[in-house]
Amino acid sequence: MVNKVSIVGAGAVGSALAFHLFSRLSFKEIAVVDVAEGLAKGVSLDIEDTRSFFDSSTQIIGTDDFCAISNSDIVVVTAGVARKDGMSRQDLLKINAKVAKDVSMHIKEHAPSAIVIVVTNPLDLITYIFAKETGFERNRVLGMGSSLDSARLLNILYEACKVSTSCFEAFVFGLHNNDMIVSTDKIRVKGEAVSKFLNKEAIKKIQDKTALRGGEIVSFLKNRSASFAPSFSIFRLIEAIYEDKNEIIPVCALLQGEYGLRNLCVGVPCVINRKGIEKIIEIELTEEEKQKILIAKKEFLQLKDLGL
Ligand code: 2OP
Repeated sequence: MVNKVSIVGAGAVGSALAFHLFSRLSFKEIAVVDVAEGLAKGVSLDIEDTRSFFDSSTQIIGTDDFCAISNSDIVVVTAGVARKDGMSRQDLLKINAKVAKDVSMHIKEHAPSAIVIVVTNPLDLITYIFAKETGFERNRVLGMGSSLDSARLLNILYEACKVSTSCFEAFVFGLHNNDMIVSTDKIRVKGEAVSKFLNKEAIKKIQDKTALRGGEIVSFLKNRSASFAPSFSIFRLIEAIYEDKNEIIPVCALLQGEYGLRNLCVGVPCVINRKGIEKIIEIELTEEEKQKILIAKKEFLQLKDLGL
């Protein structure tokens, strides 16, 4: 049973997620926590006012007090500074690493049995900080990055091929930044290779567009980043946990030897169920993908520079 979900951070992603959860699933309680006084309370009251539309009996509370996350089954962390135009996800590291340490402490104290879903950027590094600081088993700490990137890939494929997204088998893995791995040779359109539908140039464009999509959105929004697709990607993860679905979703996970990587977090396909990550799936990589996933090692040197 998943009785309680807490969301730390009531910005655009956190509040949209709270609404998806309240309107689509049934919990005993949803707690929204934000250090900005009044923000989480306002968001929760607004969402609560939709109760009659969904005949919901979920209790939703909003507060700046971390005690509210007590006994959560799932804690989603969206807190931290979001990307603004001209910033890379890495620019956020210093500030958000500190936020991650603080929030980890609160989770350890108030919700020691929770599954933690990390959304704060730079996603892979911040997920690692949560894994280390909470000390939770690795099935209980996962980052939402590659599932969002995969959703973006499916949309971009739809635009290019004009066939329903349900016809595609396609996913993204690796780091949640411009070095993500958009594995085009694994894309299938009803079992057929995508190269039957698109030429090399078009496929390359799809790869690039997918990798740059988050930044493209920020360049239009200017002072905030995407929220609809990120919040729904988190919702889908929570749904897989709630329904104990054993669904395969790419999430950021702590690797301990898989893919030749150890002691770092990166997006890989995983079986998701009530335990969180039931299993990390090791797919066969092309030579190019093998090289690209190793970029994670370089990426994680930044944590050493920060003494983490
Ligand atoms: C994105 O890719 C916020 O990192 C998130 O839009």
